[in-house]
Amino acid sequence: MKIQIIIGSTRPGRVSDRVGKWVEKAAAENKLEGFEIVDLSDYDLPLFDEAISPKYNPNRTPNDNAKKWLDKLSEADAYVFVTPEYNHSISGALKNALDYIDYQLTRKPAAVVSHGSVGGARAAEHLKAILLEVGTVVIPPAVAFVGMLAMNPTIEENGDIQQDVKDQPYGPQTALVNALNELVWYAEALKTARSKN
Ligand SMILES: Cc1cc2nc3c(=O)[nH]c(=O)nc-3n(C[C@H](O)[C@H](O)[C@H](O)COP(=O)(O)O)c2cc1C
Repeated sequence: MKIQIIIGSTRPGRVSDRVGKWVEKAAAENKLEGFEIVDLSDYDLPLFDEAISPKYNPNRTPNDNAKKWLDKLSEADAYVFVTPEYNHSISGALKNALDYIDYQLTRKPAAVVSHGSVGGARAAEHLKAILLEVGTVVIPPAVAFVGMLAMNPTIEENGDIQQDVKDQPYGPQTALVNALNELVWYAEALKTARSKN
């Protein structure tokens, strides 16, 4: 099973990368295999400017960076989207990257992990709607990490989360592990179903 953790922010000094590392560590600690970080900042995507909507363009020739991004997405069976909240929505960089998708995510599950002053909750709701439109099966559990990580590094740069927060009975770690287990369940179920037709 291949599961990509997509880092939805590209700016210098961002914190979404450490949230992605937290996700990766939680998966490893719980013996969930196949997780890999995919960093949007490695793809340097130009602003989407194709003349025809990707889903309706059988003769599509995406630019080189977009092709690399789309080929990478195609490899996975499931996704964890780590999103910041910018002005009550997702980052422009993540929206732009999602606009390139045609069928790479179709019938594959995705979990949303958001962060921000109110857990990135408003960004998460926007992201779920966008992911549905690009064909993804958004799973019910989501993780909303409450806090401004740049000022209060509850999650350190290496992805370690403070032990007292980690140990909270109904805290973010519990929510994350639950979401990851559910994601793997959906990934296996949908992979089997996709193999049939
Ligand atoms: C352009 C911009 C808009 C923001 N808008 C919000 C917001 O609406 N709600 C919120 O909770 N935080 C907001 N923030 C704070 C971000 O949640 C915080 O900077 C976080 O670190 C962003 O993730 P990143 O560091 O991975 O880019 C905003 C930050 C930026 C840069």
